[in-house]
Amino acid sequence: MPSPSSTPDVMEKLVSLCKRRGFIFQSSEIYGGAGSVWDYGPLGVELKRNIKERWWNSMIRARSDIEGLDAAILMHPKVWEASGHVSGFVDPLVDCRNCKKRFRADDPRIKGTPGTPDAQCPACGMKATLSAARQFNLMFKTFMGPVEDSAAVVYLRPETAQGIYVNFLNVQQSTRQKVPFGIAQIGKAFRNEITPGNFIFRTREFEQMEMQFFVEPGTDVTWFEYWKAQRMDWHRSLGLAESRLRFHEHTKEELAHYARAAFDVQFDFGGTLGFQEIEGVHNRGDFDLSQHQTFSGKKLEYFDQPANKRYLPFVVETSVGADRTALAVLVNGYREETVEGESEGRTVLGLHPSIAPIKAGVFPLVKKDGMPEMAHRIADDLRSRMPVFYDDSGAIGRRYRRQDEVGTPFCITVDGESITAGTVTVRDRDTLRQERVDAARLGELLGEKLRS
Ligand code: GAP
Repeated sequence: MPSPSSTPDVMEKLVSLCKRRGFIFQSSEIYGGAGSVWDYGPLGVELKRNIKERWWNSMIRARSDIEGLDAAILMHPKVWEASGHVSGFVDPLVDCRNCKKRFRADDPRIKGTPGTPDAQCPACGMKATLSAARQFNLMFKTFMGPVEDSAAVVYLRPETAQGIYVNFLNVQQSTRQKVPFGIAQIGKAFRNEITPGNFIFRTREFEQMEMQFFVEPGTDVTWFEYWKAQRMDWHRSLGLAESRLRFHEHTKEELAHYARAAFDVQFDFGGTLGFQEIEGVHNRGDFDLSQHQTFSGKKLEYFDQPANKRYLPFVVETSVGADRTALAVLVNGYREETVEGESEGRTVLGLHPSIAPIKAGVFPLVKKDGMPEMAHRIADDLRSRMPVFYDDSGAIGRRYRRQDEVGTPFCITVDGESITAGTVTVRDRDTLRQERVDAARLGELLGEKLRS
């Protein structure tokens, strides 16, 4: 449920900025758009890749106890029976007979009980037009092969986790990992959400970054606490403000069918959306492995050689949305500022430098006296190390503003002194301070700043 916030609502401005500057476009826009599906433009795809890379580096590359995986989206249909998604991944749906709109039955805007005369449609305001609630499965169905019959039904995965469970022994045996260890992957997931919305917050096609950590039963509570803390630290490391982050513990009613315990990492998106889940940390016990063992008839037990015993490991899962994280860093970074001594203010995306789509803008102060040539040389040289943007059009102040608005942390300007002394100015997006540095040292210097 939304928990309104005192933080300002910047969503509308952000949607407009994202379109104007090439972060995010509505899917199939020229046809009127596809419902709650979004395309990432040139800057958006860089931002999301950077987020995914940070996650992959911290979860897999920097550790010896987690292995990567890229499982297919389409899986054997029995996977979803075993996982409980065919029977349990449902939302209660109600329709309005008058305006044809659909709502979740627990939508707080509905007055009265759906299916009774006192119920009022939150969209058209009519009374007695809402149907009784019926269960609606959120999985997208399609057919495998040329015959469209019930035997050919397959699902687009609603979570990436199941690809990990069915590969548990493949990965464990091929890598010789010992419990406790994890398997992680990044990939698309699909949910036929009844009420998607709030830009890329809730969509029907999205990307998850999930990790399943397999532990000995009895150690799961300790590992659960460990992963809660690790994941919160990761969100902090992205630059999300401490005041906008918190944990939310799931009540019994909120727990998913597979979870023994769950905490959400929530971020304050501002306005009426307020604090909302960006990541779930779940103690899934042995629910999934034991279900797959039963449904497949194949043993999925781990053999603990030193202890000479076999058991089904418990799983602590961390599951974060790449799109929702992208939205969080955009909301977190968006600000409008007045600039001392200037009539025009500036819009800034205060993105952490490591995830900013462009790391440096490179400008010649004027288009003459060898400045464009030197600026081009600098941009070409830096481009092999990081994404840079060369810009020589318009006043220098305008060029700075254009980069501020897309979150570029540094702007390099080539001026008269650059030609004679071989130095350039480096302007910091946040402090607006400019330092003069040796042009030959730029790559090294920016590299250091980006790592810090
Ligand atoms: N495997 C566990 C799982 O899928 P979840 O809490 O349903 O757990 C995990 O989803 C994360 O996936 C959420 O915290 C959110 O970031 C993202 N997510 C889920 N549904 C989404 C949707 N419809 N649109 C965008 N992101 C979504």
